[in-house]
Amino acid sequence: MKALITGASSGIGRDIAHVLGSMGCELILVARREERMEELKSKLPVQTQIICADLSSERECFSLYEQVRDEQIDILVNNAGFGVFGAFDKTDLTEELKLIDTNIRAVHILTKLFLKDFCARDSGYILNVSSASAFAPGPLMAAYYASKAYVLHLTLAIWKELQHQHSRVSISVLCPGPVDTEFNRKADVTFAPPSKPSYQIANYAVRQMLAHKMLIVPGVSMKLAKFSARLLPERAILAVSYHLQHRRQPKQTAFKEGPIRTS
Ligand SMILES: NC(=O)c1ccc[n+]([C@@H]2O[C@H](COP(=O)([O-])OP(=O)(O)OC[C@H]3O[C@@H](n4cnc5c(N)ncnc54)[C@H](OP(=O)(O)O)[C@@H]3O)[C@@H](O)[C@H]2O)c1
Repeated sequence: MKALITGASSGIGRDIAHVLGSMGCELILVARREERMEELKSKLPVQTQIICADLSSERECFSLYEQVRDEQIDILVNNAGFGVFGAFDKTDLTEELKLIDTNIRAVHILTKLFLKDFCARDSGYILNVSSASAFAPGPLMAAYYASKAYVLHLTLAIWKELQHQHSRVSISVLCPGPVDTEFNRKADVTFAPPSKPSYQIANYAVRQMLAHKMLIVPGVSMKLAKFSARLLPERAILAVSYHLQHRRQPKQTAFKEGPIRTS
């Protein structure tokens, strides 16, 4: 088996590489920080290739696919992503457009290109990394939450199409709650709820993906969060969501709250 993992230089992606590597799977690691991937490669017990790519660039997404299309890849893990914290009228537009390019467009492009190949040979696994953020809107992290909802719904819709085609191609979406990675530092936030170790999430995700699980939600509390998001009225969900986000204050830049609109 051979797997391509995006966002493999740290966090969940790096640990998915460890898990798949320990199963004897050959790896292609993709991210921007080459030295991090070289360090990871030196610890992996399997044949590993490194490709440096900025997936916020559409051109680099297509170029990545061209570089590996003849490699007979069995597993695609679309994991690269990041968050931007702050009120929507204050956050940086350029950063958010980059977020949309990385979290949505790259996932969309790579899923489509690899899925076509996987369908043609009627085999392969795709694991798209969304988030528990996908279950509800996220005031103060609006673009990030919306981007993860896109990944969740895109993946579930494709899963249904594949089922109707009696395809043996497997597609799964991972929706974890807070995980201990570099994510918080990059988004400049501090999560209020305790974070799970990323190896634990990666290990669970890989095993569930190989078991053809459609929706992977690690932990009882996140399963409950998903269930609650379906039951509660939107205003209640938004109130809870705002409260949780507000506790994730940026570490240095104080977040200035505007007047709260009640209608
Ligand atoms: N941590 C959490 O609490 C949490 C919870 C739910 C879901 N998630 C999701 O899990 C995924 C992995 O995040 P993480 O928590 O492991 O965070 P992380 O440690 O910051 O890892 C993010 C990875 O994405 C890569 N990446 C970011 N922008 C990229 C770009 N433009 N091109 C190529 N690679 C890029 C980074 O590599 P380079 O910087 O080297 O390019 C890095 O390897 C993300 O999709 C995130 O939304 C995280």
